Amino acid sequence: MPRIALIPGDGIGPEVTAEARKVLESVAASEGLALDLVQWPHGAQRYLDTGATITPEEMAELERDYDAIMLGALGDPRVPGNEHARDILLGLRFKLDLYINLRPVKLVDARFSPLKGVAAADVDMVIVRENTEGVYVGLGGTFKRGTPDELAIEEDVNTRKGVERIVRAAFAYAREHGRRRVTLADKANAMPNAGGLYRRVFAEVAREYGEITSSAMYVDAMAMDMVLHPAKYDVVVASNLFGDILSDLAAALAGGLGIAPSANLHPGKPGLFEPVHGSAPDIAGQDRANPLASVLTAALMLEHLGNAGAAARVEAAVDASIRAGATTPDLGGTLGTGAVGDWICRELEKGR
Ligand code: NAD
Ligand code: IPM
Ligand code: MN
Repeated sequence: MPRIALIPGDGIGPEVTAEARKVLESVAASEGLALDLVQWPHGAQRYLDTGATITPEEMAELERDYDAIMLGALGDPRVPGNEHARDILLGLRFKLDLYINLRPVKLVDARFSPLKGVAAADVDMVIVRENTEGVYVGLGGTFKRGTPDELAIEEDVNTRKGVERIVRAAFAYAREHGRRRVTLADKANAMPNAGGLYRRVFAEVAREYGEITSSAMYVDAMAMDMVLHPAKYDVVVASNLFGDILSDLAAALAGGLGIAPSANLHPGKPGLFEPVHGSAPDIAGQDRANPLASVLTAALMLEHLGNAGAAARVEAAVDASIRAGATTPDLGGTLGTGAVGDWICRELEKGR
């Protein structure tokens, strides 16, 4: 029986994760699928109470005893330095070496795009974000802090191994999912060391995938072009930071962070599944958070656990709720977080 650690975390994390859990339990029951869901208390409150973020033993336990981790969000105004989130979220990504951050973006209904004149089919892409290197490694420091001569260094670390495995993951994903184009986002004009490595590796790997169109673009130009011509983008591969930025942009094109799921993967290890959005302190506790990103994240998790049928049913129920306008206010609806989760569960029951 798949064992899943649920880490609801902070802000709207517990609200949206509760709905994803309801949906998981509903679809699992109807598919005759047994899931062992174990809730973990990690987050800002626990950190403020005990000083603990996550221990190496707990990391090891997650890696050894679980098949997947499902996270809500981490980030709390009472922890302005965000150190618990870095330890837990970035800690899991780095320590479990979850080097693939898969962020699919799909417009379900043209009404939800902020763009004029796009059809739903025009926004259907997957950002494949490098997840263990780049400027996220925390290599650097400060000097003369708080003085006019202050210096801050945040090193951008890119290894041949790290670049090659993410570029390969992007092409392999494209082949496996029948996608025709892979675009690299980099900044090789201003950052020729990192960008040069990415471009060389990208060109090498592309040669092994003759059926897939490949091209490299500067990330600034891509940010503009993605808004103007979203249909050109299919699979996008990018370093950690560029992938982070592009994935929020891409999510906005498809209806916003409220519906953007993600998976942090390393084949053979437990995946970490989380919505792209954060803890949204501005709407926490108001029953306004859109749970669909978390529900779609649960579907991604089901797919990775080998239950593609159950995943497809959850995705179809989410599509139905969007089309029916059974949504939270960010998508123009009037339902609360819990009511959307209930709607999805009823839809799943109908489809049995
Ligand atoms: P955010 O994603 O939390 O919110 C950005 C905007 O989107 C806000 O206006 C918010 O209300 C809205 N939004 C986000 N999710 C929504 C949802 N499900 N339904 C409706 N509206 C939604 O980003 P932020 O405000 O920059 O960050 C808040 C905190 O979350 C920070 O501490 C940040 O570090 C953290 N964060 C955590 C994660 C994560 O845990 N994976 C991801 C991003 C940000
Ligand atoms: C995300 C978030 C995180 C990131 C933050 C909370 C560190 O923005 O998952 O996209 O930058 O990776
Ligand atoms: Mn982000």
